[in-house]
Amino acid sequence: MRTIILCMLGFSLSCVAMAADPTLKVVTTEGEKNFTVAELRKRLPILTWTIQDPNFKKEKSFDGFSLQQVLELGGASSDKGDELVFQALDGYSPTISLEVASKHEAMIAFQEHGGKSQWQRIQQGKAWVSPAPFYVVWKEGKALPESFPWSYQLARIELVSFQKKYAKLYPASLTKGSSEYKGFITFKERCLRCHSINLQGGELAPELNIPKNVTEYWSAADLKAFILDATSYRLKSKMPVFKGSLSTAEIDDVVAYLKLMKANKIYN
Ligand code: HEC
Repeated sequence: MRTIILCMLGFSLSCVAMAADPTLKVVTTEGEKNFTVAELRKRLPILTWTIQDPNFKKEKSFDGFSLQQVLELGGASSDKGDELVFQALDGYSPTISLEVASKHEAMIAFQEHGGKSQWQRIQQGKAWVSPAPFYVVWKEGKALPESFPWSYQLARIELVSFQKKYAKLYPASLTKGSSEYKGFITFKERCLRCHSINLQGGELAPELNIPKNVTEYWSAADLKAFILDATSYRLKSKMPVFKGSLSTAEIDDVVAYLKLMKANKIYN
């Protein structure tokens, strides 16, 4: 049912990935490769990990394939880019630098361990969603910083040059070391996965710059309070609560970055 609705709306990505044997796309500058679970099973060993899962907020066991080995099969080597972009069916699109990712073990899980039961659902705002078709799981579990992407409903992994892919987020006036620059780094690690600026970034949440930048219609005080805890404005918001994981100084920097982008609107 869901497949049909998404297809009618024109989300071709969803149509492909909701098919019976789900397909994972690995994309590089040299093209894309598609892998079904059956193909991956033939070519790679299956890993089983039990970890403390930050989405389910408890211990979970999954079966999957090494992210590193999947990237190798897909031809995603460090000479072709420096940033991994995970693309989920719902528009969630976190990124992580290839260098950081390669220092930690991750798997592309395709089922709960044993595969006997259905995927347990994850709460996302007011909805409960299945992690299918694929889920990015990190071996170190919830001990890792919150910037690590635990992407569920994963359909596609792309290796890009961050500067090229996200050029519209990074104006020439952004000087290293400034409050705006620090805000940009935090935005990239924590916000870009859901939000876009100049339409570059995740599609799960609103665009924050064009045509109106959020600092043009939110008061500074409300904006900071909202970013700290969106649920204090909108109950069961899909936006995570950042209170406790981002300091007020970090939020000030993010707002400084958003303000800077007001003068850097790009429409095409
Ligand atoms: C998991 C996805 C997600 C992440 C990560 C996220 N947001 Fe959001 N955000 C949302 C959603 C969904 C909305 C709109 C619905 C709502 O307000 O509940 C929203 C709304 C907003 C709004 C209000 C936009 C408007 O025009 O009303 C601002 C500002 C905002 N987010 C800033 C941020 C910042 C800054 C970060 C990073 C520190 C961030 N968000 C991280 C999902 C996210």
